[in-house]
Amino acid sequence: MYVNIKDILSVANRNGFAVIACSPVDMEMARAMIRAAEEMNAPIIFLLGQNMMRRIATAELVIPMIRTMAEAVHIPIATSLDHGNDEERILYSIRNGFSSIMFDGSLYDLDENISKTRDIVRICHSLGMAVEGEIGHVGVAADGDNTNLSYYTDPDEACRFVSETAVDALAVSVGTAHGDYPKGVVPHIAFDIIERIHSAIPDTPLVLHGGSGSGDDNIRKAVESGISKINVVTDFLNAGRNYIRDTTASNPSVGYMDLMNGMEKAVASAVCHWIKLSGSAGKAGLYHFRDRFDSFLDKPVTSKSE
Ligand code: 13P
Repeated sequence: MYVNIKDILSVANRNGFAVIACSPVDMEMARAMIRAAEEMNAPIIFLLGQNMMRRIATAELVIPMIRTMAEAVHIPIATSLDHGNDEERILYSIRNGFSSIMFDGSLYDLDENISKTRDIVRICHSLGMAVEGEIGHVGVAADGDNTNLSYYTDPDEACRFVSETAVDALAVSVGTAHGDYPKGVVPHIAFDIIERIHSAIPDTPLVLHGGSGSGDDNIRKAVESGISKINVVTDFLNAGRNYIRDTTASNPSVGYMDLMNGMEKAVASAVCHWIKLSGSAGKAGLYHFRDRFDSFLDKPVTSKSE
């Protein structure tokens, strides 16, 4: 089922679990991720960033492929542009069939972030698409941005941002950062900030970016504190790379198709692990999208006289 992030995250938020959001940069990755989610009976969200689409994952190819796969399974699947901040790329993503947009105005001042995000929300909502915004700034793990307190989300600003933009989900900065952390570093997550934001805006699903390498216990606790969507990209790219590196080192004449099949399995198993951590395993059954169609059917299909 192909839906948007609001459809997926409102159920997750109400039921206290989180959904994994990951990047299917090619067919093998997409298939690995969908297989894992189907095996776990879990909803899943697919992210493509602006650079990712320029470098490898052309939306004209990847989005129709995901939609084809989504039609074949019963689990809810959504797509979202990730960290959109370039108008041309946002329009490109809307035109190419994404179901949701993340607008990242986190480097603007609060008023400008609100005004730009609100414009994107207006356009997307009129098209039936959902929007994630960001307040505070999630930076780069290699630069140590996870410890930069000035990037953390201010709960009062988060409330104002949500009420003035009407975003469907909110990315918060609470001590994680994108990419691999320096060796041996496990981030400290500000669970108290997540809890404060969640209790102030309980109906808005909160998003944790920079999930990779954040530590299993941290992730479980972040979900308990109120996170509904966890973005994980680097860990799955690393799982694929490590499988290829190790397999070609031990068996340099491995066949290409065997290599790719093995890579797919390695990534699927990493995705299953994250789905279990997020609490979304077995939760696909909570989604009842038939209700949507029922609302269009004001008459029974067969009349009583028949
Ligand atoms: P990681 O690559 O650190 O998991 O971050 C992913 C992310 O937050 C994408 O928005």
